[in-house]
Amino acid sequence: MSKKITVNTIQKFKNNKEKFSVLTAYDYSTAKYIDEAGIDIILIGDSLAMVALGYENTNAIGIEEMEIFTKAVARGVNHAMVITDMPFLSYHKTESEAVENAGKMIKAGANGVKIEGATDYIIKVIKHLTEIGIPVMGHVGFTPQFLNAIGGYNIQGKSYEATLDILEQAKKLEQAGVFSIVLEMVPEESAQYITEHLTVPTISCGAGKYCSAQVLVSDDVFGKYSEFKPKFARQYGDMKSLIFNCAKQYNEDVKNGKFPSEQEVFRLKEEELKQLKLHKDNQTNSLR
Ligand code: KIV
Repeated sequence: MSKKITVNTIQKFKNNKEKFSVLTAYDYSTAKYIDEAGIDIILIGDSLAMVALGYENTNAIGIEEMEIFTKAVARGVNHAMVITDMPFLSYHKTESEAVENAGKMIKAGANGVKIEGATDYIIKVIKHLTEIGIPVMGHVGFTPQFLNAIGGYNIQGKSYEATLDILEQAKKLEQAGVFSIVLEMVPEESAQYITEHLTVPTISCGAGKYCSAQVLVSDDVFGKYSEFKPKFARQYGDMKSLIFNCAKQYNEDVKNGKFPSEQEVFRLKEEELKQLKLHKDNQTNSLR
């Protein structure tokens, strides 16, 4: 496997106009397989709140949960850069709390964190984190942690002015030191314009093909999460059916006595079996 991906590799991708891939993972074995498949950045997205923990939206997850899943993913990865989402309210109160929580993610094995939004306060936080050596991935356009304020899963940057507005936010993020920026649910032409006016790479999450990279939620890619499928997600497998069929077959085999088979059990040695039978016979005789 090639060398570990770092912030420098990511910037080189942009400079060389080379596309790179970002995919979420939440557990050790998934992280290991997608790392071996050559994914460049593995993101422990706070989407895990919905797809792995069954919460209604991403705001429900806390820093302790993100820490556990970050540790699991980081243990499985050798090659990819590991980035963890800073969850809702983990960086919003004070800069020192933001540093402490981002630090927890780095200690858990992440190589950087992702932060949503570009308000003045968030820009200050990002500047502080990058100054102390914590790489930050920005995230603008549709930002799920602002769902209640945005008022729904709405496409952002739909007009000329709104596009320039997102570009301005992205420029502020760039100046604050982010190494990449997720553009979520933005029209392709707007994302192209924004990408062309930035030095750092952009990562499309439903923002079309002109961004420097693409990100998807792994449960969408694997066909595992079925409650909601975004228009921009492409499903490459049918894990939901695979899991259902395996569980159904196992259930039937257990109930029909077909599991376990001869190959799936441990056997006593001949001598031990003889002793056990003798013991059983003696017990039966003493009861007579
Ligand atoms: O939470 C997440 O998985 C994300 C990506 C889809 C960008 O933020």
